[in-house]
Amino acid sequence: MQPLYPRVRFYFSCSCSRPFSTRSLTFWPPRGPIFALTPGPSASASRSQRARSLAASACYVVPVTLTTALHNSFAPALDWYLMPEAFSAGLVEQAMARYGLGPGDTILDPFSGTGTTVLAAKLAGLNGLGLEANPFLAWAAGVKLGVEVSPLAFGAAAQRVAARIGELADAPAVPLPDMPRIAKWMTPVVAYKIMALKAAILEEEAGPERELLLLALAAILRPAGNLKLTAHAFGSVERKDDAPVGPMFTRKTAKILADLQAIQASGLGCLGRAEVVHADSRDLGGLSHSLLPAQLAITSPPYLNNLDYTMQTRLELFFLDHVRGLADVKAIRKGMVICDAKAMYRDIADHQRVEGFQSIQAIAEAIAVRHAGKNWGWDYPFMTRQYFGGLHRVLEGARNALAPGARFILVVGESSHSGVKVPVPEILGEMGEQLGYHLEAIEIHRLRRSSSHRHELAESSVILRV
Ligand SMILES: C[S@@+](CC[C@H](N)C(=O)[O-])C[C@H]1O[C@@H](n2cnc3c(N)ncnc32)[C@H](O)[C@@H]1O
Repeated sequence: MQPLYPRVRFYFSCSCSRPFSTRSLTFWPPRGPIFALTPGPSASASRSQRARSLAASACYVVPVTLTTALHNSFAPALDWYLMPEAFSAGLVEQAMARYGLGPGDTILDPFSGTGTTVLAAKLAGLNGLGLEANPFLAWAAGVKLGVEVSPLAFGAAAQRVAARIGELADAPAVPLPDMPRIAKWMTPVVAYKIMALKAAILEEEAGPERELLLLALAAILRPAGNLKLTAHAFGSVERKDDAPVGPMFTRKTAKILADLQAIQASGLGCLGRAEVVHADSRDLGGLSHSLLPAQLAITSPPYLNNLDYTMQTRLELFFLDHVRGLADVKAIRKGMVICDAKAMYRDIADHQRVEGFQSIQAIAEAIAVRHAGKNWGWDYPFMTRQYFGGLHRVLEGARNALAPGARFILVVGESSHSGVKVPVPEILGEMGEQLGYHLEAIEIHRLRRSSSHRHELAESSVILRV
């Protein structure tokens, strides 16, 4: 079956052998398949000349990496709900083709996020199984898998809600979610419109159409609010006092309807089976599921970047009632691989897993030395040990979930803390070998630069074979 999203063309300049960046994109000579070759700016051109030249040939300008969510935003169903940490379905498709997978095979994603892997598998006629610790994301990915929902029934439900919401200007003063600092992320006028829209959706009978309407609401929360996300960072943007919630919702439901029609026009018979389980992938070893064992696992775990990953979905968690307060958020964070020094949870003993692991201990010590005598960063060494200990549990457990000969691809980035580079891909490769996998390759997708790091940080696929 052909992929349902448009093939994009990579831009490639034969004379450009070094990566270079515009404000938001990094261009890197591709290592994977090239779909179109176009003449590019000469190697002697300045960076800004090259960027201008790229902008002029905009129809060919696509960042080479598939490790961001960018390509999903052109794709049916994949863009119903997105977050910047997602990778693109093309990455999963490349892996399916490379390892010769077909209908009947299962692809596993232990850090499923927005469900890119499982949805890509299902659309390609394979089976997909995802694990996700964040209850909102597990729900959202599950709803995205509902591409069999009747377009007729969904379109009718969307129209009824649109008729009910009217202008939303006279939204009733219903209580807002008990989210700390809610006004920082969304002005009250917008928040009340959202609550009125939610009430209008909840008047619909419970069922898959209503779930899709709630997903459309979830997808407009961030655009309507002031919480701006970039991959692996968050912050507030210039404050918007109001937002056209009704039209935003209508546009989203129209996209969902068009996608349902397009997907179903290709025939439902060629879709695979897929599911996302709300679970902690560190317990993967004990999981039994009818879709296992998998012939491929592909995943992107949280990066060791000292960020609270629940922040990315904080509005969604509160507005869609997956949490009622910070205690619930803390419980979610405890079910996640530790990557944030503000959430160490000393009762979690993942660090003990890597006590005998020399390269991890050496890095943790080096970070500790950099922080000696400082009043910040003292927990970074422990965070590093907890992070790798958590991933050790996932790698060990995945062995039970994978068929003999299966590949386990981990898309991960290097990190840097206080000038100490943490070569996450190499360490995971070493850990995989220690756990009995064969390390086939570490393939670099791109180098990331940050003003706060002295290093260029590689983002790579670590490829392990069972
Ligand atoms: C980088 S994101 C994955 C994004 C995904 N590839 C996509 O395309 O949407 C990492 C995800 O891992 C989840 N996560 C972190 N620790 C977890 C754990 N122990 N078990 C399951 N999921 C976890 C986070 O909630 C987050 O959604």
